Amino acid sequence: MVRVAREANAEAIAEGRLEIRQASAEAIPFPDDTFTCATMHAVLGFLADPVAVLAEIRRVLAPGGRLMVLGSDPEPRGTPGAPEPMASRLRFYGTDELRKLGRRAGFADARVERRAVEQAAREVGVPAEDLALFAGPGPEFLLARKA
Ligand SMILES: C[S@@+](CC[C@H](N)C(=O)[O-])C[C@H]1O[C@@H](n2cnc3c(N)ncnc32)[C@H](O)[C@@H]1O
Repeated sequence: MVRVAREANAEAIAEGRLEIRQASAEAIPFPDDTFTCATMHAVLGFLADPVAVLAEIRRVLAPGGRLMVLGSDPEPRGTPGAPEPMASRLRFYGTDELRKLGRRAGFADARVERRAVEQAAREVGVPAEDLALFAGPGPEFLLARKA
């Protein structure tokens, strides 16, 4: 994934606009209050201690910094959206559980919203035959701001 990200963003890296670092989400190698925005995509279901990771993300966010995390909705379990052999190894969270993870990590205003993603999938060039995976009301996201 790091290699793919470096290839996809080669221009921004060459221009010094982007740096890609590999690290454990439980120990992010940046000081407190560094970032204005943080996002985590397709990782939540893999985490043994999601509250610890969200708290670590909160640590590196500056006051007022925003968080957007793709949820790990149980609904697509076993479908192409969360296929085996991964599905039986992932952790899934319903809407209330997802919001509680954010609150327990210290985000007092944590909320969960569903966002349609089909248009975004088109814009980034997802092949037409795979667009059905992104159709409909879209997945849940955990949204919050560090006070
Ligand atoms: C399904 S991939 C998603 C990658 C990318 N975010 C994306 O959306 O294309 C899941 C990624 O989470 C990473 N991951 C899982 N647990 C992690 C942890 N504790 N700390 C850092 N990365 C982790 C895996 O190494 C893998 O690259």
